[in-house]
Amino acid sequence: MEHEVNVPSGYHLVLLNSIGSTNDELKKLAISENVSEGRVLWALEQTAGKGRNGREWISNLGNIYLSVLFRPKCSSYIAAQIGFLPAIAALMSIDAMVGRSLEIRFKWPNDLLLNLKKVGGTLIETRSGKDGTVDWVVAGFGLNLTNHPEQTTFPATCLRLEVNKSIQINKMVELYLFNLAKLYNIWQKNGFDPIRKKWLASAHGLNEIINVRLGSNYISGIFRDLDEDGSMVLETGSRLTKITAGEVYYIEGN
Ligand code: BTN
Repeated sequence: MEHEVNVPSGYHLVLLNSIGSTNDELKKLAISENVSEGRVLWALEQTAGKGRNGREWISNLGNIYLSVLFRPKCSSYIAAQIGFLPAIAALMSIDAMVGRSLEIRFKWPNDLLLNLKKVGGTLIETRSGKDGTVDWVVAGFGLNLTNHPEQTTFPATCLRLEVNKSIQINKMVELYLFNLAKLYNIWQKNGFDPIRKKWLASAHGLNEIINVRLGSNYISGIFRDLDEDGSMVLETGSRLTKITAGEVYYIEGN
């Protein structure tokens, strides 16, 4: 069946034909109905899809729009590490479905690049309780399977354009959820280090000069590392500078 999906144990998937935003809907469920960790919302289209930094995420039929609820017992500082799981899970899933021949990379902080064009993006939203521990984390991920927006600042693409193979949406959702659950378990058991290493192994621009836009300023430096709070570590002259938020631009030829 076109939309039949097996889910990992402890996860509960709800498929929606159309919704404003799976992140917004899941946040509502987390707050008003106190639903438990592992609730997944998958929408076939979104009418008010959200990207990072207040941007719109164009969400036509044919792509994946999916949010997962986590309730880790940690501070929001540590929970920010969950933001790295979706892109890694998507890379593992694309590899499994299409083969290792593709050029799949991560763009800091949470984007997925295919042949150096954006094919997926992550939107993590978190709320902490009064004692500073996390109440909920909603991990939203969008993956372009059959269409992509035109005229984006950073070039975008979709799997159909890059891969000579038809991809079944339900198979991709299933693999993604199993990989995400596996990574979440690894993170809970062993912390951020194994996740950080997986991310760095496919990070685009590592040890190369990159530009980062911080508001209206740009900073350039050599992208050296990913810190334990998910910041990017840039070597700028003789110092190491931590970047907690910003937009990365690669220098041509890199
Ligand atoms: C970005 O790269 O700017 C993040 C894009 C995140 C898009 C996903 S689609 C599912 C979930 N619901 C949303 O409204 N946004 C995220």
